Amino acid sequence: MVELVIRIVGTPGDGIISSGDILTLAAARSGRYVSTYRSFPTEIRGEDQSLYQLRISSKKILTSADEIDILIAFNEKFLRDNIADLKKGGAVIFDSSINDEKFKEYKNITKYFVPIANLAKEFATERSKNMVALGILLGLAPNFEINEQIKSDIQKKYETKDRQIVENNVQAFEKAYIWARQNLEKEAFLEKLVIEPSGKKLIMSGCEAMALGALVAGCKFYSGYPITPATEIMEFLAKELPRLGGNVLQCEDEIAAITAALGASFSGVKAMTATSGPGLSLMSEAIGLASMAELPVVIADVQRGGPSTGLPTKTEQSDLNLAIYGTHGDTPKIVLAPINVEDSFYQTVKAFNYAEKYQVPVIILSDVSLGERRECIDEFDIKDIEVINRLKPEKLNENESFSRYTQTYSGISPMTTPGEKGGAYIATGLEHTEDSSPSSKPHVHAAMTEKRFKKIETAQSEFLAAKTYGDDDAKFGIISWGSTSGAVLEAIDLAEKQGYKIQALYPRIIYPFPTKWINDFLHNKEMLLIVERNYCGQFANTIVYRCTCLNKDIKIHNLMKYNGEPFTTKEIFNKIDQIIKGQYLKFMTHQH
Ligand code: COA
Repeated sequence: MVELVIRIVGTPGDGIISSGDILTLAAARSGRYVSTYRSFPTEIRGEDQSLYQLRISSKKILTSADEIDILIAFNEKFLRDNIADLKKGGAVIFDSSINDEKFKEYKNITKYFVPIANLAKEFATERSKNMVALGILLGLAPNFEINEQIKSDIQKKYETKDRQIVENNVQAFEKAYIWARQNLEKEAFLEKLVIEPSGKKLIMSGCEAMALGALVAGCKFYSGYPITPATEIMEFLAKELPRLGGNVLQCEDEIAAITAALGASFSGVKAMTATSGPGLSLMSEAIGLASMAELPVVIADVQRGGPSTGLPTKTEQSDLNLAIYGTHGDTPKIVLAPINVEDSFYQTVKAFNYAEKYQVPVIILSDVSLGERRECIDEFDIKDIEVINRLKPEKLNENESFSRYTQTYSGISPMTTPGEKGGAYIATGLEHTEDSSPSSKPHVHAAMTEKRFKKIETAQSEFLAAKTYGDDDAKFGIISWGSTSGAVLEAIDLAEKQGYKIQALYPRIIYPFPTKWINDFLHNKEMLLIVERNYCGQFANTIVYRCTCLNKDIKIHNLMKYNGEPFTTKEIFNKIDQIIKGQYLKFMTHQH
């Protein structure tokens, strides 16, 4: 596999994120698969670094990389913070105002001292120094030819700014590229940046993939309240949904957002809202209403770090308990967790299908590291994607009242839309009879609770089993969920190279809890590692509580990370290695 990892770091405001986005497009257009990791502080002009990392590869990528080939640093502090992650033989591009003496100790790396800020002033203005750095990088790439496409990508990135600013940036990029060609030796391993493009690829973020999934599933109404990092979903849909005859409503808060979506769903259209942890907390009462009134709705939760305002721009998987347990009453719902950007698209289509088919709220758990990650996806054919619509009555009788909540074998009863003759009913949060009249009679509540949960049983009988990765015979199992799974799968590849035999299970449907799949997976396991990004081990606790298979003698290990950053492959591999080397040599297929 051919790989190249580039990291750009600087102070927020240096233009790290926008230059990374432009480079991502250039690499994708050059035929490579790209996956990105972005990290920036909560404050617009904070002390912490803004970081953009691209992993560029000849093959599809499961997670971000641990080590980097090229580091572009705009200031000394962030150069110092990141230089240790450079591979042997890697290269650094940094402003020559930084004192080289301080970095003498770093041998075996190529150092490009470039007067980035001065060149920016000479070519345009200092504001364009990020475009100078980009021009230098691509000028060092032996086979990258400057083209109209990249100039247009730069223009597009800054198109909301003054025309002069846009021109300055294109000019700074172009002149820096030529300057690098004339003044610097080409960097051989930057050849990996470019191959002949084969087949069309789509490049999008996890949030955009969810928004696109919503469009393909037939979503016609989105309501939301802006919150980092979910806002990108609303921004995408605000542009695209009206073109497809839909509407986007920016609300005053999350309570309004979800109740507007429920109103839209009641009126017959597929509806969605998106938020992050604090917003999901506010929505929990209305999720109860959706369950009780059996209104389909999709809720995307792009998780961020900590409770309260916490770490809005950093990643965590700590809304799991809130998503699966955080509602009042007995509330049937479905919770999904996509593992990567492509999966974010497909799971969102599924979320709509499940919401519509089983008439329940469906929560999708993404997170900062996944929602903001940009990834190349092979173009898919929309015609091949199954889209399910809600069940309608075969015939309505104008002279009879409509029995909206008829008991059925599957628990699913036909729905009408307001205005259909003979189809009137009350969508109410009160307990109700089959014909939707409020009732608090004991037998009615018992029967209707069972009806609502029968839909979940039906859904469970129709779900496809969770995916596994690795050897079926392995005695060592790893369970992960959501965006952590990519690093787990790569860690298993690394472990296999060491002769370890391991199998992973990564359920995408995490509620109703995948007890059966986990029990099946564990039937031949002697050792289990549960990997997730929260302090409490939220998934692990539920596994221990629910999975009967754990009564037998399975040794359980947990790996939790809660510092706001995603797992690296090495961290997971090291844990596997430590467990196996520590005491469990029998899990190796051969000894070293
Ligand atoms: N010429 C002109 N403008 C440029 C430029 C250039 N060469 N390079 C960058 N810019 C502009 C960008 O277009 C962007 O402008 P915008 O805000 O109008 O979109 C701005 O400068 C920031 O640049 P960008 O490349 O996007 O990011 P950065 O790496 O410089 O800074 C921040 C990072 C500021 C985006 C990030 O720290 C941030 O958003 N923080 C806030 C996070 C948050 O959401 N907090 C709230 C939580 S509740």
